[in-house]
Amino acid sequence: MTNLDLFASSGPGLKVEQARLLELHRLLHTYAHQYYVLDAPQVPDAEYDRLFQELQALEALHPEWITPDSPTQRVGGKPLDQFASVRHAVPMLSIRTETDTEASGAQNFDARVRKELGLLESDPAVEYVAEPKFDGLAMNLRYEHGVLVQAATRGDGETGEDVTQNIRTIGQIPLRLPSDAPAVLEVRGEVYMRRDDFEALNERQRARIAAGEKGEKTFVNPRNAAAGAVRQLDPAIAAQRPLSFFAYGLGAVTPVEQGGPNFGTHYELLQTIKQWGFPVAALVEVTQGASELIAYHERIGASRDHLPYDIDGVVYKVNSLALQQQLGFVTREPRWAVAHKYPAQEQLTTVLGIDIQVGRTGKLTPVAKLAPVFVGGVTVTNATLHNEDEARRKDVRVGDTVVVRRAGDVIPEVVSVVLPATVEGATPALRGPVFSMPHSCPVCGSAAVREEGEADYRCTGGLFCSAQRKQSILHFAQRRAVEVEGLGDKLVDQLVDAGIVNTLPDLYRLGLSALAALDRMADKSAQNLLDALQKSKQTTLPRFLFGLGIRHVGEATAKALARHFGTLDAVMDATVERLLEVADVGPIVATSLRTFFDQPHNREVVEQLRACGLTWEEGEPAVQAPKPLAGKTFVLTGTFPTLSRDQAKDLLEAAGAKVAGSVSKKTDYVVAGTDAGSKLDKAQSLGLAILDEAGMLVLLETQPGDTLGHP
Ligand code: IVH
Repeated sequence: MTNLDLFASSGPGLKVEQARLLELHRLLHTYAHQYYVLDAPQVPDAEYDRLFQELQALEALHPEWITPDSPTQRVGGKPLDQFASVRHAVPMLSIRTETDTEASGAQNFDARVRKELGLLESDPAVEYVAEPKFDGLAMNLRYEHGVLVQAATRGDGETGEDVTQNIRTIGQIPLRLPSDAPAVLEVRGEVYMRRDDFEALNERQRARIAAGEKGEKTFVNPRNAAAGAVRQLDPAIAAQRPLSFFAYGLGAVTPVEQGGPNFGTHYELLQTIKQWGFPVAALVEVTQGASELIAYHERIGASRDHLPYDIDGVVYKVNSLALQQQLGFVTREPRWAVAHKYPAQEQLTTVLGIDIQVGRTGKLTPVAKLAPVFVGGVTVTNATLHNEDEARRKDVRVGDTVVVRRAGDVIPEVVSVVLPATVEGATPALRGPVFSMPHSCPVCGSAAVREEGEADYRCTGGLFCSAQRKQSILHFAQRRAVEVEGLGDKLVDQLVDAGIVNTLPDLYRLGLSALAALDRMADKSAQNLLDALQKSKQTTLPRFLFGLGIRHVGEATAKALARHFGTLDAVMDATVERLLEVADVGPIVATSLRTFFDQPHNREVVEQLRACGLTWEEGEPAVQAPKPLAGKTFVLTGTFPTLSRDQAKDLLEAAGAKVAGSVSKKTDYVVAGTDAGSKLDKAQSLGLAILDEAGMLVLLETQPGDTLGHP
């Protein structure tokens, strides 16, 4: 039966349901094509799953409407023509999913297993292996005589794509196995991208797009980025996409009779493939019975946000391979395994408005106000649009339907807009106006400017801007800075709006009566805050430095500065050159520190805080290897008599110098060898100091503290 026949058989009352069925066919086909063929999904998996289940439900009511081309009749993705097809020696099955994210998912599975095995209530608990369900793509790695000969995607389970060239670029996948590995070994597992690798990749992609490189895009999520990399036609590009791998099972293996391995349990199998050099997740555990499965599901769920990679659930597997065999399969799914999900990390919702948030340093961030939506385990009502370029590139507008992603500790993000027009045949709806950033601060009205080469607009109001004042106070009071327990945003709003607190020292001048007069403040809570303020006075130099909120000075930099200089005065008085001697401090951070402490009002704040009683232990400056060339920029050109270019560069950098590729006014020295070309000409025309190798070596001997004059 074709779709047209459906209409022919339709009675009047069924018309609506049939129209919906065809709409579901169309949507699911479009989304599957975007996902599997284009590696560019437009809607979250959760949305696809919802529509798929709706179609399944309709088909269950009307089995006569099931057509061979229904999306429910197709499993997995169809292989692309670009890659050679690989017929799997052992089919790559999928596993049944417990969509129920509650404990009952584990209970139901255990109950089914026990029933199938004919166990009585008095029989002991079944032993399982519990594993994370990695959110990447399944891969079959075939080794013959210890050598990786083929890597194939799952495809439809029977036939996948040969992506060996790309998989060979993944450092974690062994190309050769130890000599005790069987003659034929297929290891199955998940190729995925770590979250930090994903963020860094998108950062690079954004820079490429900003630089006008054609055909570049950012990726929706780590799984999508991994899928795109695996199915890259150019292995050189695939090699630049940082992929990782976890093994979780086997495909075809030399049979025991022919000397192949004889495993008793799944866990033993995993330990062995780990010894053969495959990464196996440390979170894999042997568990007994339903209660331990439930505990595992909860425990992994609680740490999900802090894992370095995305997971969309956990997988339970019966540990004994003999029992696995006994349990067997239903159609294409093993009875001995199940996936138990967690709340999806991407969902669809509607943009109700776009607000502008003002940060501590005046940075204006566009934030989408969303219809509340449950994503990654929490209800989200705000999502960042990052900056003007991002908001424009994604073309997010009020009223749009958008994909929201919340994964790990990162702030919820609008990933993309789902335009009705991207769905074939749909009429484009009327949309709100294109988003643009305001040119004045929405809080204080000061001009908002975007400096050349910067992505962000900034309010120029400085501490005149109450939003910046509030954020500075919250930053200072946070746990990682001096920590004033109980001083949250609501309270800071009140204190600043009432004009009671304008600067950081004002906090330490608060009295009980002024505090108790505030909204929702009783004597007791006011006293608690005063106690917390008192307690915060005894702090450490890194916390204090970090708390000042100097641009580009994060916790790590604050620690490095404290260690290097020992005292606050030494940090405040350090020249840019001295600051550059600190490991991790580059010109941007050094300049930012200098600018901050050159402002009299910032020094005044520091003095007042000290006068209010803030103290910390000071130390001796760390003894540092001398960095005589810190802050100096060198350019190397031509061939040197004794040193290679790299050796010269290493020596200079070890002495604290920066070695740049081209000559500019900012260059301090040009070191010229024989056959020096245009760089030397340019240095001469700019009147820069020019050295030969010997001159450079003399300079490298210069003792720290000596002034570096031009030779
Ligand atoms: S076992 C017969 N274990 O989930 C069992 N699968 O439908 C075969 N997955 O696409 C799969 N983590 O790529 C297994 N620890 C894990 C897994 C896992 C992720 C993926 C797999 C497949 C899907 C199963």
